[in-house]
Amino acid sequence: MSGQDQNPVIRVRGLTTGFGDQIVHDRLDLDVRRGEILGVVGGSGTGKSVLMRSIIGLQEPRAGEIEVFGEPMVGRTENNAKDVRRRWGVLFQNGALFSTLTVAENVQVPIREFYSRIDPKLLDEIAGYKVAMSGLPSEAGPKFPSELSGGMRKRAGLARALALDPELLFLDEPTAGLDPIGAAAFDELIESLKDTLGLTVFLITHDLDTLYAICDRVAVLADKRVIAVGTIPELLALDHDWIQEYFRGPRGRAAADAAERDSDAHAPTQAGPAQAEGMTR
Ligand SMILES: Nc1ncnc2c1ncn2[C@@H]1O[C@H](COP(=O)(O)OP(=O)(O)OP(=O)(O)O)[C@@H](O)[C@H]1O
Ligand SMILES: [Mg+2]
Repeated sequence: MSGQDQNPVIRVRGLTTGFGDQIVHDRLDLDVRRGEILGVVGGSGTGKSVLMRSIIGLQEPRAGEIEVFGEPMVGRTENNAKDVRRRWGVLFQNGALFSTLTVAENVQVPIREFYSRIDPKLLDEIAGYKVAMSGLPSEAGPKFPSELSGGMRKRAGLARALALDPELLFLDEPTAGLDPIGAAAFDELIESLKDTLGLTVFLITHDLDTLYAICDRVAVLADKRVIAVGTIPELLALDHDWIQEYFRGPRGRAAADAAERDSDAHAPTQAGPAQAEGMTR
């Protein structure tokens, strides 16, 4: 089994990106399958956020193809890609909430963009529903981002990402800065939203517990490419220094032990063997 999906939700081929003389990605390939949570890992500065921004059209690639829901994305204007953008939600690494808007108003921003003539009462109702769905108390709706804790801000960002009932969710470091209990609760929320809404999730994370708990597969970014994609056991079988150090270092072992102790832990899917590039298995 090649592990190549015939009909991926996201398909990236030969992606090259950069800033000035700096090349961030060099002919990178990646598939994200329908209904999976794909974890994206890699050292700081390896280009995880730039990859996400390229896929959602905020960063124009130098070369390569990007398809989302089978639609080519490269070279599309924001307006031209509206029908595709409507089908995804994004939680940025820094939260990116509008500081002068309340949580409820933040959630309403994407809805207003796509449905400009929506009845204000309905808009309030939808925002309230999304706030509740993200695990925030209803009192959070009228608050400003500065009045929330870090964990609540993440949930507010998630509420906004869910505003348009997306099929695809992009999450950039959603649990960074949360305490372990808050992070585990956020993981559970993502997993249950995936199950109930049938979401596909592109999840950038440094959080090993998140990888073990909810990711179906993990893509490893290094050397300007996705060097391997697979379940954690599949990645562990690969002879690559960064992968071995990451998963078998003290933090990786602790996360693996915790996942094993937790009988409810998410079992790895029966995917095909990890797709590795230029690596010994
Ligand atoms: N707008 C920009 N202008 C110039 N360089 C940029 C820009 N955005 C990112 N870079 C550079 O691209 C590289 C990849 O950045 P990116 O933010 O994708 O890293 P990352 O893998 O998300 O790191 P982290 O784990 O710290 O979030 C870095 O060297 C960064 O300095
Ligand atoms: Mg980043």
